[in-house]
Amino acid sequence: MAPSQPLSTSTPPASPVVFESALAMQEQAIAWRHAGDDIGLVPTMGALHAGHDSLVSRARRENQRVIVSVFVNPKQFGPHEDFENYPRPFGQDRARLEALGVDAIFHPPVDQIYPPAFKTRVDPGPLGEVLEGKSRPGHFGGVLTVVLKLLNLTQPKRAYFGQKDFQQVVLVRQLVRDLALPVRIVVAPTVREPDGLAMSSRNAYLDPAQRQLAPIVRQAVTEAARAFTEGETDPANLERLTRERLAGAPGVEIDYVAVVDETTLSRPQRAVPGGVLAVAVKLGSTRLIDNVVLGAERL
Ligand code: PAF
Repeated sequence: MAPSQPLSTSTPPASPVVFESALAMQEQAIAWRHAGDDIGLVPTMGALHAGHDSLVSRARRENQRVIVSVFVNPKQFGPHEDFENYPRPFGQDRARLEALGVDAIFHPPVDQIYPPAFKTRVDPGPLGEVLEGKSRPGHFGGVLTVVLKLLNLTQPKRAYFGQKDFQQVVLVRQLVRDLALPVRIVVAPTVREPDGLAMSSRNAYLDPAQRQLAPIVRQAVTEAARAFTEGETDPANLERLTRERLAGAPGVEIDYVAVVDETTLSRPQRAVPGGVLAVAVKLGSTRLIDNVVLGAERL
């Protein structure tokens, strides 16, 4: 439970304080900022894995105080998505965050973030309607609404996001730029299983056969990215290569394969270094996403 008074600002606590109250979290964050401490925020929906660990470790290195939010945000799930079933192993998450030395875990119940009178919604604009946004209408409005609220409640100097959710990063950066939010967005590389599958809390939904098939997503984008480094710059050809590779895996249903500009998300005439090849597939009822930054990774 949250303490009634903000903590002393001198030394990190031995184990993280869990705040459930939005107001208590905000008071603590303001006290830390007034004491001159930089706060790093890692926003999560829990079910933490090594990808989250890398964000938290980086936040730990770069800030005096680290807050991790653990909140399964109902507003970013569509009516037929997995909000109810989304894993919530809070005890395990808490132990993991304690081992990583975080100062505070913000774990609010839904009505602390969305009290009954809550009405506001952030509109991500056109970039929220392509790729993920096309398949998941309303998703990014929900993401940006909660991210803005989490930033206000935790007052971070830096907020940490993973490259796997590449479109989310583009939209969070847009939010920060458009609304002049005083926070730096730090993006960390995707952490992968040894077979290349991007780490995701949703990987837990895959049955053994699907799990065996899942690395095909990484293999497909890697092959296309290799073709790019060997001189193929036609976006249509890079997308075709990716689709052909995925088509060889029965049971993988392609949602989209797209070469896009890394800031406008539009399709370039020619693929250039720094552009992104992004993919979403369904394996059974599990949606997997991945991407590669062209010319940027050792493949
Ligand atoms: O990436 C996620 O886990 C979520 O979209 C986020 C940023 C925590 C907002 O709910």
